Amino acid sequence: MASKLLDHGKIERNVTLLLVLALITVAIGGIVEIAPLFWIDSTVEKVKGMRPYTPLELAGRNIYIREGCYNCHSQMIRPFRDEVERYGHYSLSAESMYDHPFQWGSKRTGPDLARVGGRYSDEWHVQHLVDPRSVVPESIMPPYAFLKSRPLVLPAIRDHLVALRRVGVPYGDADLDAALDDLKAQADPEADTRDLVARYPKAQARDFDGDPKTLTEMDALVAYLQMLGTLVDTRAAEPMEQPR
Ligand code: HEC
Repeated sequence: MASKLLDHGKIERNVTLLLVLALITVAIGGIVEIAPLFWIDSTVEKVKGMRPYTPLELAGRNIYIREGCYNCHSQMIRPFRDEVERYGHYSLSAESMYDHPFQWGSKRTGPDLARVGGRYSDEWHVQHLVDPRSVVPESIMPPYAFLKSRPLVLPAIRDHLVALRRVGVPYGDADLDAALDDLKAQADPEADTRDLVARYPKAQARDFDGDPKTLTEMDALVAYLQMLGTLVDTRAAEPMEQPR
């Protein structure tokens, strides 16, 4: 029996049999790798500090996607020395766990933006988006001055949160009910944002575009850029990562 099973001559001379047996073998390998993913809760290691986007950040992120910023900018710092020295700690998988769709990208006409938050002032971002060459003379980035005069369209924001909750982003009922208020409060220097910050730790609330009277698309986009990479304290892990 064993000799018959191992009769390779037969298998190798019969192309169809070889193909069928090869497919079965590959399928077994595939199932062993893929099947466990359906039974474990998460493949992403939890990291302290990660939270879902605030409504204003989310609105900014939608503008980032709408304008195709990802065509020139990646949001993933790879674990190589040159990248880490230029952009900061390499990206952790948990840092994009609430991204639907993720913005990792592979094209870098401009620099990676995964940790751009807090690196420049709001004024710099506004000026740079209005006229990139006024702050970086050799820049080839297109201007986005119109964002400053376009009021942010608000009503759909709760639906965005609902949609994200359906795919697993842990927004609570309170977050959904307050979505529109949260969005307005985060860009309003006069507003009481204690409740917002309690539900979204490290949320930065202020007027972002230099015009506190109108809530513009520029407010949302700058709020988004300023939070990128600021949630997780990557320095806390540094001592453990130093080579001995
Ligand atoms: C055609 C390619 C292109 C597109 C599209 C583009 N950028 Fe850029 N971006 C660049 C280049 C090149 C630079 C580097 C020069 C500079 O700072 O302007 C840059 C720089 C930046 C910087 C500064 C990053 C740093 O670390 O210095 C930010 C922030 C930025 N872009 C945001 C955006 C946003 C937001 C959008 C979409 C609204 C966008 N970019 C669209 C090419 C692009």
